[in-house]
Amino acid sequence: MKLTNEQVAFYHENGYLLVKNVFTADEANLMCSEMESVIAEDCPRRILEKSGSVRSFFAPHFTNELFDLVSRDERVAAPTAQLLDGEVYLYQGKLNTKAAMCGDWWEWHQDYTYWKQDDGMPRPDVLTAMIFLNDVTEFNGPMLLIPGSHKTGTVDNEAHQAELSDEEYAKYLQKAEYMTSLTADLKYKLNQQTIRNWATSNGLVSATGPAGSVLFFHGNVFHASSNNLSPWPRHTYLLTYNHTGNEPLEIEHPRPEFLAVRKGVAIKPVKVNFDAVLTT
Ligand code: SIN
Ligand code: MN
Repeated sequence: MKLTNEQVAFYHENGYLLVKNVFTADEANLMCSEMESVIAEDCPRRILEKSGSVRSFFAPHFTNELFDLVSRDERVAAPTAQLLDGEVYLYQGKLNTKAAMCGDWWEWHQDYTYWKQDDGMPRPDVLTAMIFLNDVTEFNGPMLLIPGSHKTGTVDNEAHQAELSDEEYAKYLQKAEYMTSLTADLKYKLNQQTIRNWATSNGLVSATGPAGSVLFFHGNVFHASSNNLSPWPRHTYLLTYNHTGNEPLEIEHPRPEFLAVRKGVAIKPVKVNFDAVLTT
C-alpha cells in the first residue's frame, strides 16, 4: 500500500494519520480469534490490569505466525517506510486488549520518552501503527491525540512530574487501603498543565474507525485513552517501527527483547494471505 503525498504531508503536519479499512473486517476478526489463544499464555510478556483482565501482551509475533506476518504486511510496513523515509525494523509489537466494561486508561504521554530514557534510542525516527481489531468508537476508549504536538520534541518529564512527590503521594494512598487500587500509573507522563495548554491551542482528536483501520502515530505525539466502560472490547495490535539508522546506543541494563529490539533486520514487506496461514 502506498500513501498519497497528501497523506504523508498530513502525517508530518499532525503527527498521526488514520487510514480506514486497511484490513478487511474478516481479517480483523481472524486476528481477534488468534489473539484469544495468544493472550491465554501466562508468561512475563503478559501484563494484567488490577481487575485481572489482560491489559497488554508483548511480542505476540515471537510465537504466533499470523502476528509475525502482519508485522511485515505491506499494508503497514510499506507506509511506515514511506513516513519514516527509509528502511525500518520492528522495534516492539504488542496487543492492547482493552476489555469491555473494565479496560483501564492510558494517561497522557509521549512514547519516545520511554525509548530514549530506558533504551537509549538516539532520535524520534520511530512510529507506531495501531491496527484496530474491533470497531473503535467514542464509547470503547479510543486513542486521543493532540495534533501537531510531536513538533515540540520530547518534553522533559523530570520537570513535569505530578504535583505531589512520590513520598507525599504514598502517604496519601495509605490513608485508606482502597486507594491503592485506583491508579494505573505510567512511569513517564505529561503534566496536566502541558496538556491543557496544548489542547486549548491545537484541539484534540479521537481516533475512531471500523475494525481493520490503522492509526499511524509519531513517537513524540501526545496521546492517551480513557477507560472502556462500554460492553464492547477495544482490541488493538500495535507495531512500533524504528528507522534502521536509529538503533539504540549501548546501555548498561537493556530491557528484554520483547520490549525493545536493539539490533533490527530491515523489513521486506510481504503480501499476507490470512486464509492460507490459518488453514496450515
Ligand atoms: C499506548 O499508548 O501505547 C496505547 C494506548 C492505547 O492502547 O490506547
Ligand atoms: Mn503510547
